[in-house]
Amino acid sequence: MKPTKVIIDCDPGHDDAIALLMAHRMPEVDLIGVTTVCGNAPLERTTANCLRIMELLGATGVPVAAGCVTPLGRPLVLGTADGPSGLDGSPYLPEPTMELQKEHGVDFLARLLREAEEPVVLVPTGPLTNIGMLLLKYPDVRAKIARIVLMGGAFYRRDEYITPTEFNIFCDPEAAAIVVESGLDITMVGLDVTMKVLVEEPQFEAIGAIGTDLSKIVLDWLRYYEKLHRGQMGVGGALHDPLALAVAIDPTLIETRNAFVQIDRTGTHTFGATVADYWNLEGQPDNVKVASKVDADRFFEMLYTSLR
Ligand code: RIB
Ligand code: CA
Repeated sequence: MKPTKVIIDCDPGHDDAIALLMAHRMPEVDLIGVTTVCGNAPLERTTANCLRIMELLGATGVPVAAGCVTPLGRPLVLGTADGPSGLDGSPYLPEPTMELQKEHGVDFLARLLREAEEPVVLVPTGPLTNIGMLLLKYPDVRAKIARIVLMGGAFYRRDEYITPTEFNIFCDPEAAAIVVESGLDITMVGLDVTMKVLVEEPQFEAIGAIGTDLSKIVLDWLRYYEKLHRGQMGVGGALHDPLALAVAIDPTLIETRNAFVQIDRTGTHTFGATVADYWNLEGQPDNVKVASKVDADRFFEMLYTSLR
């Protein structure tokens, strides 16, 4: 089977780092480019982290371009899940020697899509600023976007770990609105499923047993990430972004419900929330496939395989 052409737009970020790792290591994926965005840390940090991660992976042949430095319509509110550097607790990663593309990430995305022989799968794992700007500035590239599988949103309030908003959408709701209103094939992999793929002791043991250099570094990242998450939410480290990448390759990992989704941009306590109209009360066509269930065991097997 031919590998799927993928572009990841990310804000590394411990979980973004593992999404990049899986994309690079999985034979089913042809990672043709990476763009960075502000979010977990300021742009120059997420970009520096991205180059370090790509170099660590030996993925220096994959071009990386830096995108937007702030959200489209509001100041940057930093994520808190990765420490000030965006990759705290990781073993010291040497200064990258890998060159950053000269183009702005949005122009780079447009060029890559225009040059691609067939439509490409976009996997945004940070705020949607670059993707929103891409759709505004280069509407022609829509034809070269096969589908968007993004990490973002929170829809079902089944348990106390699902907050009213999810960071990637909250950070740039204007960009998220452009994306969900685009009419493109969009799958939202939100907290409803990503909070079901948590790294805790059993996963640490499984990764520890792999014993490769890569698995040892990932274990370092995840031990720090889990500690931060446990301090904030009392649960293990959720592998938000790696799940979005895995779903882009194997959509059977999740169950989805089609819905008309809107982004709350005026709420006081729900500002940035993703609101799904499952009963079609608004009489609008469905615009998003919302992830509702996940096969966590199969996802972790995919992660472990990529580490071996
Ligand atoms: O809410 C989870 C998202 O926010 C993930 O993409 C994580 O990397 C952080 O950016
Ligand atoms: Ca992210």
